[in-house]
Amino acid sequence: MPSTFLLDADARSLLFLDARSNVNFAAQPVPVEVVSEVWELVKWGPTGNNTVPLRLLVAESKEARAAVIANALEGNRAKLAQAPLLVVAAHDERFHDTFHVTGAGTSSTYERLEADADRRASMAHSGAMLQAGYLILGLRAAGLAVRPYGGFDKAGMDAALFGESSWRSEVLFGIGYPHEDDHGAGERRGRLGADQAVRVA
Ligand SMILES: Cc1cc2nc3c(=O)[nH]c(=O)nc-3n(C[C@H](O)[C@H](O)[C@H](O)COP(=O)(O)O)c2cc1C
Repeated sequence: MPSTFLLDADARSLLFLDARSNVNFAAQPVPVEVVSEVWELVKWGPTGNNTVPLRLLVAESKEARAAVIANALEGNRAKLAQAPLLVVAAHDERFHDTFHVTGAGTSSTYERLEADADRRASMAHSGAMLQAGYLILGLRAAGLAVRPYGGFDKAGMDAALFGESSWRSEVLFGIGYPHEDDHGAGERRGRLGADQAVRVA
C-alpha cells in the first residue's frame, strides 16, 4: 500500500510527532544566520493576497534579550531565559508599502488600505500568525526546537523594540537545539482526532 505521505516517517516525526514546545534546550548556541536561512524557506508559504506581513526581530544583543524577557508575563520569564535564542515575531502594519515586492495590490488597493488602519491591522495579524506557523515548521526542519509565547505585554514590547516603526509584536519564540534527554515541556496534552475535527460534507 503506498503511503499517504511523501515525507518519510523521520521527517514526520521531526516536524510533528516528536517535536515538542521545548522549555529546555542543549547548551549549543543558535547562530543568528539560521533564522534568516529559515526565513528564506518559509517565506514561500502562502498568505492572503500574498501580503507577507510577518517580520522577525532576532534578539541577539544582551539589551534586546533583556527587553524581551522583561516584557514577558512573569510566568514566562524563567522559561524564556533558558532559550539560547529569542525571536519576536511581529506583523508590519504597513505591509502595503512592500506591494512592489509582493505584488499584493494595485495603487487603488494601496489607497484603500492606507485609509483603513483597522483593516490593515486585521489582515496583518492573520497573515503573520499563519506565517508564524510556517516558521515553527521551518525551524523544526532545521533541527531546532521552539516554544511559542503569547503571554507578554505587546505595547511594552513594541515600545522597547520597535520604537516608531510599523512593526507590532505577535508572538515570541524561544529557540534552541533540543536538549538531549529532557525537553521540559511536560506530558504531551491531547489533540482532537479526525473523527472530531474533520467533517466531510
Ligand atoms: C500562539 C501560542 C501562544 C503560546 N503562549 C504560551 C505562553 O505564553 N507560555 C507558555 O509557556 N507556552 C505558550 N505556548 C506553548 C503551548 O502551550 C504549547 O505549544 C502547546 O501546549 C503544545 O505543546 P507541545 O508542542 O509540547 O505538544 C504558546 C503556544 C502558541 C502556539
